[in-house]
Amino acid sequence: MIYAAVLAGGSGLRMGGDLPKQFLNICGRPVIIRSIDAFIKSGKTDMIYVAVSASYTEYMRELINKYIQFKNIKVICGGGNRNETLYNVLESIKKEREVSDEDIILTHDAVRPFIDDRIINENIEAVKKYGAGNTVIPAVDTILQSSDGKFIDSIPLRSTMFHGQTPQSFSVKKITELYENMTPEEFEQYTDACSVFVAKGEKVCLVQGSRDNIKLTYPEDIEKAESIIKSKEQD
Ligand code: CTP
Repeated sequence: MIYAAVLAGGSGLRMGGDLPKQFLNICGRPVIIRSIDAFIKSGKTDMIYVAVSASYTEYMRELINKYIQFKNIKVICGGGNRNETLYNVLESIKKEREVSDEDIILTHDAVRPFIDDRIINENIEAVKKYGAGNTVIPAVDTILQSSDGKFIDSIPLRSTMFHGQTPQSFSVKKITELYENMTPEEFEQYTDACSVFVAKGEKVCLVQGSRDNIKLTYPEDIEKAESIIKSKEQD
């Protein structure tokens, strides 16, 4: 089985507004529906889990009924942070079917609506070959490291630096095993699943992302998203 986990349990404080950013309508279609569409269109995912905060589960189901034909889609409750949201997805999968060695999960930020077939396919291939993959793009700016926010500790070579995007993709068996053995402190410390893999000494392969695969974070990102949609419509 290939699963997609569309993570949408966040509240979007930096974006502001009454409705969390994943539900905003951009050029006539909600952001989260665009993200789900990408997985359906790829034809590669057998089952899609959409994790939203408890107060939005009904709203999410209504959106799916309105916009989506695909039947293998399930809405579940997210958690207090992104890792807990993902953990809830893994628990739901485990409750519903026996996990096999071949099962793959693509975990994706609901607020990155511009993934394409190539990115999805290469994530799947990365897991088949290496067990885990993280979508990335090369850093364009030099990255400075500072532990106190005042002085520079180090300046890593830019050519070795990348920006993490999603999907982050894994063997379901491996990620479930790692998450089930994490302490509450580790849940707090690691902000995403790839950090957990790396900290536990597991190999994570880089998958080439794209500059269009933006995460909607601030209000100005809406305009960027509209312009990406318009440029894709012209292709
Ligand atoms: N996310 C999640 N569960 C949480 C927190 C975040 O599933 N408890 C998801 C978000 O819905 C989003 C992705 O993780 O699709 C990336 O989150 P990010 O944009 O960094 O965080 P938000 O909480 O959504 O926004 P902000 O930090 O501005 O409040």
